Amino acid sequence: MSSQVLVTGGVGYIGTHTLVALQEVGYDVIVVDNLCNSSAVALQRVETISGKPVCFYRGDILDRALLNRVFAENQIFAVIHFAGLKAVSESLRKPIEYYQNNIIGSLVLLDAMRASGVKRFVFSSSATVYGSEAPVPYVETLQTGNTTNPYGTSKWMVEQVLQDTAAADSEFAIALLRYFNPVGAHPSGLIGEDPQGIPNNLLPYIAQVAVGKREELSVFGDDYPTPDGTCLRDYVHVVDLAQGHVRALEWLVGRTGAEAFNLGAGRGISVLEIVRAFEHATGVSVPFRVVSRREGDLPAFWADTFKAKQELGWVANLGLEEMMVDTWRWQNANPQGYQAVDTGK
Ligand code: NAD
Ligand code: WQD
Repeated sequence: MSSQVLVTGGVGYIGTHTLVALQEVGYDVIVVDNLCNSSAVALQRVETISGKPVCFYRGDILDRALLNRVFAENQIFAVIHFAGLKAVSESLRKPIEYYQNNIIGSLVLLDAMRASGVKRFVFSSSATVYGSEAPVPYVETLQTGNTTNPYGTSKWMVEQVLQDTAAADSEFAIALLRYFNPVGAHPSGLIGEDPQGIPNNLLPYIAQVAVGKREELSVFGDDYPTPDGTCLRDYVHVVDLAQGHVRALEWLVGRTGAEAFNLGAGRGISVLEIVRAFEHATGVSVPFRVVSRREGDLPAFWADTFKAKQELGWVANLGLEEMMVDTWRWQNANPQGYQAVDTGK
């Protein structure tokens, strides 16, 4: 069996960590990425960590001719599909771009896969598909939907497409990986999350406050019905998450159909607990101010992790301490992210 895995969006945050995990267990990796939210420097860093080359096609998943060429030039065993746009608030302003990239992009990719007979697929889904009404912890058997923004709806719609595809063609084997809140960075400090502009997500914001790029953290609301009044989320280390993709690939072999798996640690941590954990793990203080709630935030959600453990043999091993220390090591070593060393490739 071929050992080549196509990773769309492989230059991004979760993609780069997954490339390292794949290379560590002997897969050859092929990346398609248009670099709309990433830097080619990250791929050099991946090669430094693994000591192995990454085969890179710079281009768009909407470019069918490019995908045809990628499938023709390689013996691809499976596809891991990260490429897409991911900012919730931006998706409200740019729904067409989000549906275009996330839905049409996935359809073009799937059609190219079908045409070339590659039918193992791992999809980057999100806990957001459980919508705004689901009870916690989120379990895979819950009905999905009730999404509240185009980003979430795009993930939900692609999940439907994939379920229908697997139902219609029994050669397809598809894992829908529903990530909770990915944080942290590779322990080498060479790769990590590199948001452009003002970070939307909590940990990158905290890290930028700690490194002196931003003055203080705004804590979005402390009047939620939670123990300390701030929202609870299920933070999961990106290195664990990367490992989940390796497990999903193994799971696909010999299987057919589409199955969803939660990838989370299985517990809710509050915003204030994260601030304290960061300060404790790094010794750096994080000034913050409580402000009003951010529109669209849910009070609390975390994963039921039983299915991923049972079927994929996957659990999140790394704790809060590692999440904080690794975030800080990356941020401290790369205060401008990849930008300072970007050669413009
Ligand atoms: P990211 O933005 O760092 O990585 C996505 C990569 O895809 C980037 O390198 C970008 O340049 C590329 N890309 C985007 N559109 C493309 C296109 N049309 N053609 C080719 N390349 C394209 O994001 P990430 O955090 O690594 O997330 C990866 C996937 O996981 C995304 O699909 C995201 O929606 C999903 N996800 C992320 C989170 C999270 O919090 N980070 C949570 C749940 C799900
Ligand atoms: C976490 C908590 C905020 C920033 C988003 C997407 C979700 C998924 C992951 C892709 C919340 C609070 C945050 C800040 C704060 N992405 N916060 N001050 O909103 O749980 O999930 O990313 O699929 O779909 O919605 O993550 O990191 O933005 O927020 O107080 O400056 O931190 O209110 O409680 P979220 P987040």
